[in-house]
Order: sequence, then C-alpha cells, then structure tokens
Amino acid sequence: MLRGDVLAALPRVAYRRQVMAVRMGKRQIIAVNDPEVVRDVFITRAANYGRKSHFKEQALQPVIGKSLFANHGEIWTTRRPPIGRLLHPSGVGRLQPLFQQVGAQLAARWAGLAGEGGLVDVAPDLATATLDVMLLAVFGPGVPEGEARAIAEAFTRFQSQVQVIDLPYLLGLPNWLAGRHKRATLRAAAEIQARIAGLIAMLPGEEGYLGGLRALKDEDGQPLLDETGLLEEVAMLLLAGSETAANALAWTLYLLSTHPEWQDRVREEVFGLLGERAPEAGELNALVVTKAVIQEGMRLYPPVAVLARQPLAPDRIRRWTIQPGDTLLCIPWLLHRHEAIWEHPHAFHPERFLPENAKAIPRFAYLPFGLGPRVCAGAAFGMAEMTTFLAMLLQRFDLGPGPVPVPRFRLTLRPEGGMRLLLRPRAAVGPAAANGPPALP
Ligand code: HEM
Repeated sequence: MLRGDVLAALPRVAYRRQVMAVRMGKRQIIAVNDPEVVRDVFITRAANYGRKSHFKEQALQPVIGKSLFANHGEIWTTRRPPIGRLLHPSGVGRLQPLFQQVGAQLAARWAGLAGEGGLVDVAPDLATATLDVMLLAVFGPGVPEGEARAIAEAFTRFQSQVQVIDLPYLLGLPNWLAGRHKRATLRAAAEIQARIAGLIAMLPGEEGYLGGLRALKDEDGQPLLDETGLLEEVAMLLLAGSETAANALAWTLYLLSTHPEWQDRVREEVFGLLGERAPEAGELNALVVTKAVIQEGMRLYPPVAVLARQPLAPDRIRRWTIQPGDTLLCIPWLLHRHEAIWEHPHAFHPERFLPENAKAIPRFAYLPFGLGPRVCAGAAFGMAEMTTFLAMLLQRFDLGPGPVPVPRFRLTLRPEGGMRLLLRPRAAVGPAAANGPPALP
C-alpha cells in the first residue's frame, strides 16, 4: 500500500468484509464495502463527506490545481452546477461525429499495425484517441497534430511517478513535509500545463467547452474563472474525460479477447443494426449487448477503482469513529467483486447488464461513475464515446489475447506495462465473417 499499489495490498478476506479499518501512523483509513453503508455515507451524509481526501487532492494538484474535481466548499459549489450543465447528457449527441471520426482514425492506425500480424499495445493508442476526443470537444477544430499523443504520454509519465499515498501525512508530520512530489512528477505536470496553456492562448475554442467555460459568470456578472481557473478546469476535463474511458476500453477489449463468444454477440448486434457504418447518436441505446459488455468490463476493472473522502466533522461508521484527518475509502474494485453480493463475482458475465436482467443489479454495489452529489459529470459522454469506439473496432478486428495484463491502480486502473492484444483485421463484413460467408448482403 505504501508503495502505492493499493489493490495488491488487499487481503483475500476484503472481498467478503463490509467495513474494514486500519490505523497507519497517526491516521485511520476506513474502507466501506457494504452497499447500505456506501449509500449512507455518499448520499445521506454526503454533506459531511464532500472532501475528496488529502491523498486525492495532493496527488492531482500538480496537474489540475484547485479544479472542482479535487475540491470542495465554495469552488465546488460554484463550479459544479454550470460545468455539469455544459456536460449535460442532452448535449452529448452533437459530439457523435467526433467519436466517429476519432474511432475511424484509431481503426485505420490499428489496421496498419495489425497488418504486420503481431501484438499491438492498445493502451497508448486508446489514451491518445480518448484525449483526441477531449481536445476536440474542448477546443474545437485546430488542435495541432501530435498534441494528443504528447499530452497522453505526459499523463502516463505523471501517473507512473505520482505518489498516491502520502507517508508524511499518514505519520502526522508537519504540513511542509507532506504533499511533496518527485521532480519527475512535477516535470510531467508542468509539461501538461504548458501544452494546455499554449492551446488556450492559440485557439478561440468557441465551438467547444472552452467557449462555454469562458462565458461562465459569477453572481456579480464577472467571469467565474480567471486565467488559472480556466487552465485548471480544462486540465481536469482532459484528464477526467480521457484516462477513464481509455482504461475502461483497454480492459473491455482484453476481456473480449479472452471471450470470443461475446465478440460474436457484439458483432451480431452491431452488424445487424448498422452493417459496416458507424453508429449515429440515436442508435446507441439500441446497442444493448455492446453496452452490457462495457458495463461488465467496468465492473471487473473500474477505471476509478478507489473513491476517497475525508469527513469534515467526526462521525461514526458502524462501530468505528472517524475523525476529520482520517480517510474513508469506497473501493469499487472490491464492491464490484464482493463475494456476498455478486454471483460469480470474478467472472465475465455481461448478460447481467442486459435490459431484461438490469433490475437484479444490486443497488449501490455498482459504482463505475461514483454516486451522490459528486457523481461523474461526464458519464453520458463517456458511455456514448466508448459504445461508438467498441462498435467500430469490433466491426474491423477479431481480438486475440496477448500476455495476461496486471492491473495497477494509481489515479486510474491501468494495465501495468501496457495491454498487448492480437488484432486480426477482418476480411469481410458480417458476424460470421471469420468462419464462413458473411451473414449480411
Ligand atoms: C469511462 C468513463 C468515465 C468514468 C469511469 C468516470 C468516472 C468518474 C468517477 C468515479 C467520478 C467520481 C470520483 C469521486 O467521487 O471521487 C468522476 C467524476 C467526474 N468526472 Fe468522470 N468518468 C468518466 C468519464 C468522464 C468524462 C468523459 C468527463 C468529461 C467530459 C468526466 C468528468 C468528470 C467530472 C467533471 C467529475 C467531477 C465531479 C465532481 O467532483 O463533482 N468524466 N468520474
């Protein structure tokens, strides 16, 4: 845990426990692993648990500063509602051409690589593609080529270096010792911020979220975000909106590579509805199998595998007392695999998420987008983007497994050292193309 490998530190019994507490140095860490307690803390008592925790704040600070994601109090209260409206699901449909365009570019790139018949590390390309989407959504057209790859690489360097557990803080050492970062972490963060500042200065961004962020006003009619605020909120959107989706897709492709029968089911649905073309916004809801596969992918590998909070006032959770300096964890990785809640918790069974079975999903036990007032503001965006990408990729490739990937949770749940898969371009259209004549005319 102190090395920052939170998931590897979890004992086997954690998959059956409801609440666990551990004292480390001067601080206590309490993990809630029971849906009722999760609901109680994140919804009923949300006002006391608005703070994202010292650990998350200090880990994210070099890139996103005081942005709403890692903040509480006035900054969160004034920024979350208007930024939530900018990202509202009703506006996501107009981004569909972006999802299609970037999905097609990704497929074309992989067709070139896969043509060589080898394994392809899909992780960096997915990070670049999802960042490409976010850059276009924020800045509109005009983002220089190569920018997405450069920022995605800097994010990767940042994540691999960043200290997620702050030991001096746990030990209760003075503030000036806590919250310090390695030089490499700060260098990667500075590069990300400099690139984003360059884009903000260069592009009007009227067609994207940047224009919307610039136009936000406070109650006196003054701009809500000054220059720093704008930079930090843009950095937050780029990070929150790309890393998560890229990792969810990487793990979903991996699961599909080891479950060819589910590849067939997705293709059957996609070819049946769309043939060879990309989905339109109005068609995404009909891709129920494709979506169920993504939802099951995020159950087994939740991109935000740990949610952290710090109480503002002392509180009691079951028989434990939690103090303001302590940390509360809700670990979707555990909750999603809880052995008393899920049937076959560690197995890939996307049928759980098909509409006819959805009622059986236990409430407050499936939280890929978090819950309560701080629930993900971009969930509809993320689902539309991932569904479009997955449909387009399975139209073009058969997936085969590569080396077994190792999950590592830093800020998101990444495959340690990448995700290498066998990508075989499909010669003809149709669900059964690989094994016989195409089923569609
Ligand atoms: C697969 C895709 C995504 C996943 C799994 C995901 C997951 C999450 C989770 C779990 C949280 C809550 C964290 C916490 O409570 O500690 C969150 C917050 C947030 N997400 Fe996402 N996210 C995704 C995509 C996006 C996208 C595409 C955007 C923007 C376009 C976005 C914007 C945000 C914002 C602004 C917050 C902060 C909300 C707040 O603190 O009030 N997310 N996300």
